[in-house]
Amino acid sequence: MNARVSRPIRIGLFGAGVVGEGILRLLEDNAGAIERRMGSSIEVRRVVARDTGRPRSSRFDGLLSFRPEDVLDDPEIDVVVEVMGGLEPAGEYVRRAIEAGKSVVTANKALLAERGHELIPLSEARRVDLYFEAAVAGGIPVIRVLREALAADTVVALRGIVNGTSNYILSEMRERGLDFAEALAGAQAAGYAEADPTLDVGGGDATHKLAILATLAFGADVRPEEIATEGITEVGAVDIEMASRFGYVIKPLAVGAARPDGSLDLRVHPALVPEASVLASISGALNVVVLEGKMLGPCLLSGYGAGALPTAMSVVSDIVDVGRNLVFGASGRVPQRAWRGEHLARPPIAPPGQHECRWYLRFSVLDRPGVLARIAGVLGAFDVSIEQMVQEGRGGGSDEPVHVVMLTHEAREENVRHALREIELLKGMVARARALRIEAGA
Ligand code: NDP
Ligand code: HSE
Repeated sequence: MNARVSRPIRIGLFGAGVVGEGILRLLEDNAGAIERRMGSSIEVRRVVARDTGRPRSSRFDGLLSFRPEDVLDDPEIDVVVEVMGGLEPAGEYVRRAIEAGKSVVTANKALLAERGHELIPLSEARRVDLYFEAAVAGGIPVIRVLREALAADTVVALRGIVNGTSNYILSEMRERGLDFAEALAGAQAAGYAEADPTLDVGGGDATHKLAILATLAFGADVRPEEIATEGITEVGAVDIEMASRFGYVIKPLAVGAARPDGSLDLRVHPALVPEASVLASISGALNVVVLEGKMLGPCLLSGYGAGALPTAMSVVSDIVDVGRNLVFGASGRVPQRAWRGEHLARPPIAPPGQHECRWYLRFSVLDRPGVLARIAGVLGAFDVSIEQMVQEGRGGGSDEPVHVVMLTHEAREENVRHALREIELLKGMVARARALRIEAGA
């Protein structure tokens, strides 16, 4: 049992950006309701930022500091809120806060995915909380659901859209005909993108989130480097249009499943999902996570996965949770990764080459006799069977490449990859082939 706190809960913030400002706004607007729910109020003592010359909202007046010690060494601060991002110095500040006996709330999925296996046991040993609802899918309370609501079930699979920026970009390209760069600029202007947006469009952010989700869902200590990752940078307007002709939408997916042999299938990549599916209907910065419980069956959670206020809502809900624990002197009751640390396993991760699914394949070829037959021949030799095919008519004469798109029957990933490598060497091919998975049961 920890000592009970019977005064305002005092917090110190690292980060005065999109999420930091959202937190101050939410604390101001909802102060009364929060106090009535928590049994105590929340007082912001200090907000630490880095750039002394950056213009800021007046909400930060009287709170700003550029010295981390003003939070870390203030004995009156109960909870450190880390919304600055990156591995360092964020990791160092979180570690020092825990060692000083302060609970921590963070939205930093990179830090949790890469260092959670060190920081979470440290916080449990120090009997302080390290909460991270905002780190996965922004405003959607999926961490709480996995940690608490599904504590009696066995999660066998999860799939979702967990990067708002990538979903926003693909939606803007499809719905408004924007090009990739314009759509990314829109996501940045709206505050959805990471400081380094290659994490979003390269799939790294979704991989961090999937590592966290898989740890909680499957009781497995999953590391991001174990997850096969592809971003959305190679999805072109032509793929979006071709997918639509076949009745599909391209979505940035994160997929996890427990396989019968005890291994985990973990993948982050764009995929074609049927137009009539739930995943296809999740547009813009909306996220979705579908959890498949052995007892419960499917459970779908959707909402805004990025943006100042949805993210701030998750952060402040965590502060309220920590605050309730402080008011009752009860930190550490619920394991932060849903499973008690000593029961987290390290199951094998299934090699991506073993995965079987239907495929969308696009080839840029010169429209000459025999080209299609040669492509089909190589696919057949690798046991990849064509289900449907479309060839775009000749555009500006016979030297102009045309797109040939094929949808395959179920094929093993390693066979598809081998076949594509051989096809790229064929006469008449003018660019690298594109391959996207078609996600069944989406
Ligand atoms: P921003 O880039 O808008 O803000 C980051 C803030 O952290 C800035 O105020 C910056 O200071 C401060 N900062 C960065 N480095 C340091 C440092 N070394 N020392 C002190 N302060 C520092 O990021 P966001 O608010 O968008 O994101 C913050 C975190 O929340 C990230 O981990 C992100 O992944 C996560 N997140 C973001 C979501 C979103 O929708 N934006 C959604 C879910 C999670 P300064 O202002 O001086 O530059
Ligand atoms: N950059 C992230 C996204 C923020 O676009 O989803 C939310 O984690």
